[in-house]
Amino acid sequence: MATPAPHVAAIADELALAMVVSSDAPLLLLDGDLVVVAASDSFCGAFQVQPVDVSGRSFFDIGAGEWNLPKLRSLLTATASGLAAVKDYEIDLSAPGRDMRRLVIKAQKLVYGDPAAPRLLMTICDVTEARLAEKIKDELIREKAVLLQEVQHRVANSLQIIASVLMQSARKVQSEETRRHLKDAHQRVMSIATVQRQLASSHAGDIELRPYFKQLCQSLGASMIRDHDKQSIEVNADDSVVKADISVSLGLIVTELVINALKHAFPDERAGKIIVGYRSEGRNWTLSIEDDGVGMPKGKAPAATPGLGTSLVEALTRQLHATIKVTDRNPGTAVSIIGLDRTGVDGANLSPQQPAI
Ligand SMILES: Nc1ncnc2c1ncn2[C@@H]1O[C@H](COP(=O)(O)OP(=O)(O)OP(=O)(O)O)[C@@H](O)[C@H]1O
Ligand SMILES: [Mg+2]
Repeated sequence: MATPAPHVAAIADELALAMVVSSDAPLLLLDGDLVVVAASDSFCGAFQVQPVDVSGRSFFDIGAGEWNLPKLRSLLTATASGLAAVKDYEIDLSAPGRDMRRLVIKAQKLVYGDPAAPRLLMTICDVTEARLAEKIKDELIREKAVLLQEVQHRVANSLQIIASVLMQSARKVQSEETRRHLKDAHQRVMSIATVQRQLASSHAGDIELRPYFKQLCQSLGASMIRDHDKQSIEVNADDSVVKADISVSLGLIVTELVINALKHAFPDERAGKIIVGYRSEGRNWTLSIEDDGVGMPKGKAPAATPGLGTSLVEALTRQLHATIKVTDRNPGTAVSIIGLDRTGVDGANLSPQQPAI
């Protein structure tokens, strides 16, 4: 490379120094011995030193010697000899009489015409406020998560209390029909309490359906099956995860249909099994409740006004934009709730049907 004429080199030097001094970002130009050649006004302002006290002094003697940190010294020495470069090195700078500052330092050896006079360009970025804001934000997020969990625990406890009150009332009443209604109401509340419990340990309000259905069916079986050798409930669900509001609807449907099967499919202590299934593929999904019991009564017209359970299942199915399909399994009954992607091909399948359950 041709050496520039002396006056051209002097002009280039002056230009480089003027650029460093006027930089908005705190900047230092150091020589090969880590002596300050130039410091930006922004550096002097940010670290409260006078330009005359900086230029010509060793970088490590600036101020009260607060920059004289062994690790930084060895990194800069390695950079000056061309062995390394300082990339985003973080230090805590504590100058006497000033608050501690967190700084991110970058330094690199400049590639230019004179190898006998190496130069290092060093930028110092003060990230104290940014780090503090991040810390406050993280603490707020953690606090919010703890509060949310607390609320979820409390709601779950309250629902549990309501369910117990309903159960106690069911034990006390004389009328068999009222007792049945109270027990069903107890199960409906339990189904929502189970979602609440799952929510307390979930991330971002998502519910894994398999453990949720398992817990739900375990609770239904514990309170409604008298002889566990004769009747059982099995859950056969894939790894689907849904939002909490969807899981509440699915859980209530499972509750109603499992209660129906337990109440009607196995008369006279008939043995049998109920299988709760859930499969999804893309945006299509199927929830099924199958039993191998006596099957739906044949040749009986559906009741003019459906019971509360049937109305609930129909309303929830509509809300989920799904349809209900009841199949005779011979033996037993299968009720499927089928959710199809509403942008799917066969739009006719998407309007809710209302068969008697
Ligand atoms: N899995 C099933 N196996 C056999 N029969 C069933 C089954 N599910 C429902 N049924 C029949 O459907 C009828 C209606 O069910 P159910 O009495 O549960 O009414 P409902 O509309 O669900 O109201 P509710 O649950 O509030 O009492 C029952 O009397 C029963 O004959
Ligand atoms: Mg019912």
